[in-house]
Amino acid sequence: MEGAGMPGSVVVLLGPPGVGKGTQGVRLARSRGWAHVSTGDLLRDARETGSELGCQAQAYMDRGELVPDDVIVGLVKERLNSLPQSQGVVFDGFPRTIVQAEALDGALADDGRRVSRVLLLEAGEELLVKRIAGRRSSPNGRVYNVYFDPPEREGLCDETGEPLLHRADDQPETVRSRLAVYRKATAPLADFYQRRGVLARVDGEGEIGAIHEAVQTIVQKKQVRP
Ligand code: AP5
Repeated sequence: MEGAGMPGSVVVLLGPPGVGKGTQGVRLARSRGWAHVSTGDLLRDARETGSELGCQAQAYMDRGELVPDDVIVGLVKERLNSLPQSQGVVFDGFPRTIVQAEALDGALADDGRRVSRVLLLEAGEELLVKRIAGRRSSPNGRVYNVYFDPPEREGLCDETGEPLLHRADDQPETVRSRLAVYRKATAPLADFYQRRGVLARVDGEGEIGAIHEAVQTIVQKKQVRP
C-alpha cells in the first residue's frame, strides 16, 4: 500500500536457512500488498518447468551451494522489471553475497530507488536444523512445520488441499553445507547494511505471529522516519 506515484518500498529479509524468511516474507507481503520475491522459489519454479536455467541451478541447490551470482541477478532483474515501480517488494533469500547486494543497488538506482530496510532474522543452529527437518511446503508457497506449525489435515495444504512436499535440499548433510555457506558468504551482508543504517535485527526464535508483529513495527517505523 504505497502512495500513488511514489516508488515502492524495498525490504530485504536476511538470515540463515530455516530462520523463517519465507514464513515472514509471505505474511509481510500479503499484509502490505507487496510482491514477495524469493530467489529460492524462482529457482525451484525454473526447475519445475525443466528450463535450462533450472537444470543448471539444480546441481548447486542439491549440494547446498550458492547458484552463481550472474544467474541470480538476471532472474531478479527480470522479476523486478515485471513489477510497476510503485510496487513494494520484500526480498527473501536475496541478496546473499556482496556482489548480489551491489547489483541490487544498481538495478534499483536505475528507478531512483534504494533498499529501505534490511531485517536480519536470527536463531540458534540447533533450532534451525529442527525447523528444516520439520518443514513441509505447499505448491502455492505456504510453508508448514510438522513440529511447530502443522496443517489442519496431516500432509495437506490448508488453503489448497494439495499434498505437502519435503524439499530435496532439506537432508541433514545438505543443511550443514547451507549453514556453512551462509556463515561465509551471506553473514557479511549484515555489516554491509549496518554501515548504511538500514539493518534491524529480529529475534527469529519466538512465535510466528509475534515475529510478524515485530517485523511490521520495524517496517512501519521506516516509513514514518525518512
Ligand atoms: P532458499 O529457498 O532461499 O533457502 P534458504 O535461504 O536456505 O532458506 P530456507 O527456505 O531453508 O528457510 P527460511 O528462512 O525461508 O525459513 P522458512 O520460513 O521456510 O534457497 C535454497 C537454495 O537456492 C540455496 O541453498 C541456493 O542453492 C539457492 N539460492 C537461493 N537464493 C539464492 C541466491 N540469492 N544466491 C545464490 N543461490 C541462491 O521456515 C523454516 C521452517 O520453520 C518451516 O517449516 C516453518 O514453518 C518453520 N518456522 C518458521 N518460523 C517459525 C517460528 N517462528 N517458529 C516455529 N517454526 C517456524
